[in-house]
Amino acid sequence: MFARRSTQLARGFATSARVPFKAVVLGAAGGIGQPLSLLLKQNPLVTKLALYDVRGAPGVAADISHVNTASEVKGYEKDDIKDALTGADVIIIPAGVPRKPGMTRDDLFNTNASIVQTLAEAAATHAPKALVGIISNPVNSTVPIFAETYKAKGVYDPKRIFGVTTLDVVRASRFLGEIKNADPKDIEVTVVGGHSGVTIIPLLSQTPLGKDVKGEEYKKIVHRIQFGGDEVVQAKAGTGSATLSMGYAGARFANSLLRALNGEKGVVEPTFVESPLFADQGVSHFSSNVELGPEGVAKIHDLGKLSAEEEELLKAALPELQKNIKKGVDFVASK
Ligand code: NAI
Repeated sequence: MFARRSTQLARGFATSARVPFKAVVLGAAGGIGQPLSLLLKQNPLVTKLALYDVRGAPGVAADISHVNTASEVKGYEKDDIKDALTGADVIIIPAGVPRKPGMTRDDLFNTNASIVQTLAEAAATHAPKALVGIISNPVNSTVPIFAETYKAKGVYDPKRIFGVTTLDVVRASRFLGEIKNADPKDIEVTVVGGHSGVTIIPLLSQTPLGKDVKGEEYKKIVHRIQFGGDEVVQAKAGTGSATLSMGYAGARFANSLLRALNGEKGVVEPTFVESPLFADQGVSHFSSNVELGPEGVAKIHDLGKLSAEEEELLKAALPELQKNIKKGVDFVASK
């Protein structure tokens, strides 16, 4: 179902044993939440699908529950979050407001920080061991907010909390495929750093089809990967940001977490996690290739060899990341 990193699901891990994974979507009635939930309904590793939103999730759940796959779907709203979360193995969070034209992801901070903190408190209370994928923007700040909230509750395990940057990876593969006239399913681009503008660093030099992209063409594709979200925000003209491609990317990331939970080895995704890579430069969270296991993060890969251009991109990203992370940490400390 998903290009590249997820193709093994169909190959050796379709098992006749009943897999007992419960997936929960928080913000399930939204633009991302609905297609994401629909795709999770098609995932054979999900046996229970809990859809929560402050409003509208029971309707979405009733609709999706008619899709003829084996999983059981339930909708929850308002104060029912405890029942939604109890027993969760994987929680994916696309709750919060999206951008309008002219807005950066950081402009969403004031609204989404509180939403994410509320949801982190609920998850820390009712499902502290679940693997959590955070889609809500600004990811560079909402992941630290989630982490700090778990720390305050005494349940923090850095291996279990992930910022979902998969859409940047999906876009990089698609955009490179376009300029090289190649099928994107054969193109894997590692994207590292964070999830906003200059913090998004595609490592094209490590991809066979990307390593000879130079000059203006290089500048153009890097800019498109970094600011691809703006194309969608502008085209939707005030009605939202990427929802369908994000639903796809979120479902792909959830599938990788589920495959790892199911015991599959070698599942690797770029994702924004607490990371030692640049901790000595005051950057506590960073996205790089992460090998996933049943406990969440199994191994954080380093960046490998970077080109001179990528070193420059990294230099520009680190101070911005540090600022974004601090904003999240300070938000929780101020409460
Ligand atoms: P949307 O407005 O269509 O949906 C958001 C949903 O969250 C709504 O149904 C709303 O009722 C719900 N919600 C609000 N507060 C909640 C709470 N406390 N608990 C549960 N649900 C709550 O927005 P959309 O387009 O689905 O975007 C959601 C978020 O995802 C935004 O922050 C957006 O910026 C972000 N996003 C992230 C991307 C990424 O690559 N990580 C890509 C695209 C969007």
